[in-house]
Amino acid sequence: MSSPILAFDGVTAGYRGKPAIEAVDLHIQPGELVGIVGPSGSGKSTLLRAVTGTTDIYAGTVTLHDRRVRAGHPTRDIGFVPQLALVEPDTPLRAADAVLHGLAASSRRVPWYSKAERAKASALLERLGLAGYERQPIGELSGGQQQRLLLARAMIADSSLVMLDEPTSGVDLQTLQDILGLLDELNRAGTTIVLTTHDLNWVAASLPRIVCINQRIVADGAPADVMTAEVLERTYGASVRIVRDGDRILVTDDRPHAASTSEAR
Ligand SMILES: Nc1ncnc2c1ncn2[C@@H]1O[C@H](COP(=O)(O)OP(=O)(O)O)[C@@H](O)[C@H]1O
Ligand SMILES: [Mg+2]
Repeated sequence: MSSPILAFDGVTAGYRGKPAIEAVDLHIQPGELVGIVGPSGSGKSTLLRAVTGTTDIYAGTVTLHDRRVRAGHPTRDIGFVPQLALVEPDTPLRAADAVLHGLAASSRRVPWYSKAERAKASALLERLGLAGYERQPIGELSGGQQQRLLLARAMIADSSLVMLDEPTSGVDLQTLQDILGLLDELNRAGTTIVLTTHDLNWVAASLPRIVCINQRIVADGAPADVMTAEVLERTYGASVRIVRDGDRILVTDDRPHAASTSEAR
């Protein structure tokens, strides 16, 4: 097997001496598309932050591109889409400049942007349905537009690994489909993608590999193997029902009324 692009080996990490994830072993190969699922507070964001170098690591090693990540040393050469936190409405930063900030996080040598880089920012905005928004202050964009902007920012450096924290949360259906289509396209072009989500049905329907986490890794594998009532109960501590319909897997909570079932696509 080729060497992983990202490896967690026995990683315990957290904040101010308190672990949020424990004994995590996780190897991700170049070109994979991996979904991290788990309840609120289970350590999904912490797992991603352990890679960006923004959480404390108490045990084990996180290795990215054969280099060990050290806490407090922000990782370069990675596209990262943080969990959407809407900016203040009066934030004056213009959309194109926000996208170009994605280059500052990678290993750039000069402190200004070239014409080619600006053109690339415009092209990305267009690809994400934000054509003509270059000079728009980001505080004036809707939540879905801000989420797409964050994705453009993560893509501009052409990093081989893009990590997204809950990219499908709080966006409208059209934005959701745009984002999923784009991630699929990126992945087909060779980009390794790791995302967190709490949308079990979409994850079950779409991703080749799912990692269930609740401080520790509960399960890791293909949806057909991971999306079982037993695994999800251990992950979520709640009773769920799994309905299989050919290749499709639907997850519902265990209450009998149909309204709680959300069908994937
Ligand atoms: N900046 C922080 N400082 C202290 N504790 C934190 C911080 N961020 C997260 N935590 C704690 O770490 C645990 C895991 O949080 P998080 O990784 O954000 O979970 P998830 O993303 O799955 O909702 C929670 O108990 C949370 O309260
Ligand atoms: Mg989170």
